[in-house]
Amino acid sequence: MAEKLILRALRGETLPTPPIWMMRQAGRYLPEYRATRAQAGDFLSLCYNPELAAEVTLQPIRRYGFDAAILFADILLLPQALGPDLWFETGEGPRMETTTTMEQVRALKPTAAIHDTLSPVYETVRILSRELPRETTLIGFAGAPWTVATYMIAGRGSKDQGAAHALKNTDRATFEALIDRITEATVEYLSAQIEAGAEVVKLFDSWAGSLKGADFTDFAVRPAATIIAALKARHPGIPIIAFPREAGEGYIGFARATGADCVALDNSVTPEWAAEHVQKDGCVQGNLAPEHMVTGGQALIDATRRVVEAFRRGPHIFNLGHGITPDADPANVQLMIDTVRRG
Ligand code: CP3
Repeated sequence: MAEKLILRALRGETLPTPPIWMMRQAGRYLPEYRATRAQAGDFLSLCYNPELAAEVTLQPIRRYGFDAAILFADILLLPQALGPDLWFETGEGPRMETTTTMEQVRALKPTAAIHDTLSPVYETVRILSRELPRETTLIGFAGAPWTVATYMIAGRGSKDQGAAHALKNTDRATFEALIDRITEATVEYLSAQIEAGAEVVKLFDSWAGSLKGADFTDFAVRPAATIIAALKARHPGIPIIAFPREAGEGYIGFARATGADCVALDNSVTPEWAAEHVQKDGCVQGNLAPEHMVTGGQALIDATRRVVEAFRRGPHIFNLGHGITPDADPANVQLMIDTVRRG
């Protein structure tokens, strides 16, 4: 069989038409997702139910024929597996028992214990690697240490990640110990996903943009480099996508500094700027604004063509700049795919 398109792009090949998938492609904008989620009871029960998690992963593949499927799970399952309680407040988002002192960092479960909680996720990966169409690439993922730490420290999402910055600035030893524990656990978590059948892994650093200067180097670049080096040593050739969201100038050289095969771009950078400064080092992924999935029309077509055109001289995986939102219209997703594939 010819090699899958996503894997070819990740090896640096420039393809005539970019392969395409979408962040949060299994999500609330799809009626079939909402039905399966209702069957599971709640979001976390869905994440820990391998049959149903595999089912929602497959739904957008059946509907649209995306080139990649992303494992259905959440970046907060890993910190939960280290001990802290996790729950989702309806309409508000995640809540987590906080970890802010050295005693609490030391009280986290040993890394080897994460598999007790996360084994259903590996089972989801095994089901998917059996059931996905042969041309579809299976992507596993984890949160990057900084982004995971922001939720562990604040106990919830926050706009400015203030609690995590405060701990970093006032109790550096505790903050660094926490980052190190997450880094180590992330290697084991992603490694287990790869052993179960993930063909690519992606590191989501959704809050990388709030790290500036030396903090960006220390807590976005360095942990990613550590994780990527460890994974590549254990699984030679495993392609890795890094998403340092809103990194701005930090995108420049990020692939080289971390060893990532591909850098995912958000919408704070234009595709022309990214083609010149980021794609010159290798594959990029992105970066249509998710708002177009709500508004559609000629603006969607024009913006999609602009992204394809800007990146057509190098390796590119078409995606949104962030996850699709629940108010998106499934018909607009089809329009985007048709525009990418037919021009
Ligand atoms: O992309 C995919 O479809 C794969 C599955 C996936 C989910 N979350 C499912 C999900 C992935 C890769 C994530 C990553 C994730 N989770 C991130 C990083 C990427 C990003 O969006 O910046 C973050 C920060 C989280 C934490 C998280 N999970 C938040 C803040 C929320 C609430 C916000 C929201 O959209 O409701 C979640 C919930 C969540 N994770 C949903 C899904 C489909 C919605 C849950 C539901 O069905 O109600």
